[in-house]
Amino acid sequence: LSRIRIAVLFGGRSSEHQISCVSAGSVLAALDRDRYDVVAVGITPQGHWVVAPDDPSALAPHGRELPSVDDSTGAAVVLPGDPSSAGLLTLRPGEVPSELTSVDVVFPMLHGPYGEDGTIQGLLELAGIPYVGSGVLSSAVSMDKEYMKLLLAARGLPVGPYVVVRDHEWTSDPDGALDAIDALGYPVFVKPARGGSSIGITKVASRDGLVAAMEHARSCDRKVIVEAELVGREVECAVLDTVDGSRPQASVPAEIHVGAEFDFYDFEAKYLPGSTTFDIPAKLDDATTDEVRRLAVETFVALDCAGLARVDFFLTDGGFVVNEINTMPGFTPLSMYPQMWAASGVTYPELVDRLVNIALERGTGLR
Ligand SMILES: Nc1ncnc2c1ncn2[C@@H]1O[C@H](COP(=O)(O)OP(=O)(O)O)[C@@H](O)[C@H]1O
Ligand SMILES: [Mg+2]
Repeated sequence: LSRIRIAVLFGGRSSEHQISCVSAGSVLAALDRDRYDVVAVGITPQGHWVVAPDDPSALAPHGRELPSVDDSTGAAVVLPGDPSSAGLLTLRPGEVPSELTSVDVVFPMLHGPYGEDGTIQGLLELAGIPYVGSGVLSSAVSMDKEYMKLLLAARGLPVGPYVVVRDHEWTSDPDGALDAIDALGYPVFVKPARGGSSIGITKVASRDGLVAAMEHARSCDRKVIVEAELVGREVECAVLDTVDGSRPQASVPAEIHVGAEFDFYDFEAKYLPGSTTFDIPAKLDDATTDEVRRLAVETFVALDCAGLARVDFFLTDGGFVVNEINTMPGFTPLSMYPQMWAASGVTYPELVDRLVNIALERGTGLR
C-alpha cells in the first residue's frame, strides 16, 4: 500500500483564522502516520502560505490564548494552479521555486471567506488536487446566507424571513433599508452575509440599534443579511458523504443550550468553556429526530455539498427551519460535528480517514 501524501491547510484570511488553527491541530493529531505523509501548511491573515511544523501541540490553545500563523511560522510555499505540477513549491528569495512535495489530497481545514467559500476549492480544482469537502459552487453558495436561502427555498426547504442590504443600497438609501428591516418585526439578527463563529452579528431589539448593528456587520462584509428572530430550540445535525457516492448520512442531532447570561449563541458562548451545554443526541421523539435528519440530508443535497457539512436548525412551533449550513464546520474533537458522529458510532480518526477517502474517490473536474 502506498502512503497517501496529504496537505492540511489552516489559518487563512478570515476572522475565524484561530479557530481553523485549533481544528487543524486536531486533524494533524488524528492522521495515522503509518498511512499518511503529512505536510502542514499555514496561511497567514495576510494570505501568505508557509510551511508549518507538523506538530499538533503547537496548534493547541493555551488557556484563552489561541494559536495563529505568521510569516515566522516557516518557509514560504505556493500551490500553482497548474495540474502538471500537482504539488507545493518552496520559495526562497533570489532562488528558483523548487518542489517541496507532491500532494495526493488536501484537507482545507479553513473556515469563512477565502477558505470555506469556494476560493481555495477553485485553486485546488485548477491544480487538479482532490480535497476534502464541498466543491466551488456549493462552498460559495453555502457561505452566503442570501444565496443559501434562495436555493433552499427553491427546493422547498424551510427558511425564515429576511432582508438583504447590499452596499449600494445602504449608501444610497439607508432609510429605505431601515424601513424594509422594520417590516420584519423585532427583534432581528443583523449579520454579515458571509460570516461565521457569530462574528459581526448583533441581535437588535428596536430600530434604534439598527444603524450601529449594520455598521458592525458591514465591517465584516458589506453585504448584510437581516433576519426575523426564529423562536424555538436550536438543533444541529451532521451530514457525512459515503465513499461509494450513495446517499449521504445524517448523524444523531444535537441540541444547544446557551447559558442564560448570553443573548444568543455568540462568539463567547461558542468558545468559552462551560458557556453552553449540549444534548447529544437531542431529546426529541423518534419522529422529530427522523424529520431533522431527513431535512439535514435534503439541505446537503440541495446545496450540492460533498464530504461533510453541519446543518443548523431552529425547531419552532411551526416545525424545523434551516438557520444555516457550514461546509467546513469546527473540527476539534470537542466540536459539534465530530461529537455528533462520535455519538453515532464514528470516532474522530475514522471520520478523518473517511473524509480523505471520499475526497480521493471523488477526484477533481466536472463530476
Ligand atoms: N434568525 C435567528 N433567530 C434566532 N436566533 C438567531 C437567528 N439567526 C442567528 N441566531 C443566533 O445567532 C447564532 C449565530 O448565527 P448564524 O446565522 O449561525 O451565524 P454564524 O454563521 O456566524 O454561525 C445562532 O447560532 C443563533 O443562536
Ligand atoms: Mg452558526
